Amino acid sequence: MQKLRVGIVGAGRIGKLHAENLKNFKEVEIRAISDIFAEQVGDWAAQNGIEKVTEDYRDILNDPEIDAILICSPTDTHVGIIKEAALAGKHIFCEKPISLDLSKTAQVLQWVKQAGIKFQLGFNRRFDHNMSRVNELLKAGKAGDLHILKITSRDPAAPPEAYIRSSGGLFADMAIHDFDLARFLTGSDVEEVYVQGAVKVDPVFAECGDIDTAIITLKFKNGVLGVIVNSRQAHYYDQRVEAFGSVGSIAIQNDTPNTAELYTKDGVSRETPHYFFLERYKEAYVKEMHCFIDAVLNDSQVPVDVNDGYQAELIAFAAGISLREKRPVTLAEAEARIVQEV
Ligand SMILES: NC(=O)c1ccc[n+]([C@@H]2O[C@H](COP(=O)([O-])OP(=O)(O)OC[C@H]3O[C@@H](n4cnc5c(N)ncnc54)[C@H](O)[C@@H]3O)[C@@H](O)[C@H]2O)c1
Repeated sequence: MQKLRVGIVGAGRIGKLHAENLKNFKEVEIRAISDIFAEQVGDWAAQNGIEKVTEDYRDILNDPEIDAILICSPTDTHVGIIKEAALAGKHIFCEKPISLDLSKTAQVLQWVKQAGIKFQLGFNRRFDHNMSRVNELLKAGKAGDLHILKITSRDPAAPPEAYIRSSGGLFADMAIHDFDLARFLTGSDVEEVYVQGAVKVDPVFAECGDIDTAIITLKFKNGVLGVIVNSRQAHYYDQRVEAFGSVGSIAIQNDTPNTAELYTKDGVSRETPHYFFLERYKEAYVKEMHCFIDAVLNDSQVPVDVNDGYQAELIAFAAGISLREKRPVTLAEAEARIVQEV
C-alpha cells in the first residue's frame, strides 16, 4: 500500500488529537511535528512514535519526503503557512477557521487552485454520526421540504481571557462550526443574517469586545429559515439539532457516555453529555481524517473545501455587522464591505 507521509504543525489540543488518531492509520506515516515550544513536545512525540520534532514548520515544508501537512497552529498563523505549503506543493488539512480576514481567505482560494493541491478544512461536525444521519434523512426527503433548521450549540465553560482576546470572537471562533453545519444540512448558502447578542456569562467578554450569548437568525438562499442559539457557558456541552419540514421533523439529542437512567423516589437522572468537543466529536475527527487521506491517495474530492471555509467566515462577518448595527444584513452587503472594513 502506498503510504502518505505527513507533517503536523502545532502540537496543542487539536494537533495532538489528530496525531494520535493518525498513528492508527496503516496508510499514513507521521514524519515530523513542529511546535514553537518543541522542547515541551518531545516526550509526547516519542510516546506516539514521531521521531522528528522541530521548532520551525519550514523544516516540514522543505522536506521533499513529506506529501501533506496538517495545520493545527493558532488561527493567526494559518494563512502564512498555507501560502508557503501551497508553494511547496504539499497537500493541506487546515483547522478552522482559515483566517479572521476574509480578503486573505479569498487569496487562499487562489493559491490552492494554482498549486493543484488538495485542501480540506476541519469542519468536523459534518462527520458526526448524528449530524450525518440528519443530513441523510433530509436529503432523502424524509421530513419533506425543510422549513426551519434549529441548532443549539452551547459550550460547557468559557475559555480563558487570553484565548478570548485572540479568538476572533464568538462568531468566527465558535458559531463558525454552526454556520458550516447549517450550510451542510440545508444544502444552501445563506442570504441574510440577524443577530441578538449579549454578555451574560462573564464581563470579561465585554472587556475583550466580544459577546458570550447569541441568537442568530438566518435566511437561506433556498428559502429555509434557521436559528442558531449559542452560549459560551452551559455547564455541559449542548449540541442539538432540529430540522422541521413539510411532512415531519428530525431531531437529535446530546450524546452521553451511556443511556442508563436512574429512577428513585426523588426523580429520574442520567449521565451528563460528553464533556466537550474532544469527547463528543471523537469519531468525527477520525472520519474527517479518513476523507482527507483518501482524497490525497486516491485523488477523490475533499468533503470540505476552501469555499466552505469562506462561506462560513462570510456569515460570521455579516453576523458581526448585524450585532454592531442592530439590523439584518445580507451576505451580499457583507461581501461588498470586506475590502473597506478588513
Ligand atoms: N475543529 C475543531 O473542533 C477545533 C477544536 C479546537 C481548535 N481548533 C482550531 O485549531 C487551531 C489550534 O487550536 P488549539 O485549541 O489546538 O490551540 P492550542 O493553543 O492548544 O495549540 C496550538 C499549538 O500551536 C503551537 N504554535 C503556535 N505557533 C506556531 C507555529 N508558528 N508553528 C508551529 N506551532 C505553533 C503552540 O505552541 C501550541 O502548542 C485553531 O485554529 C483552532 O481554531 C479546531
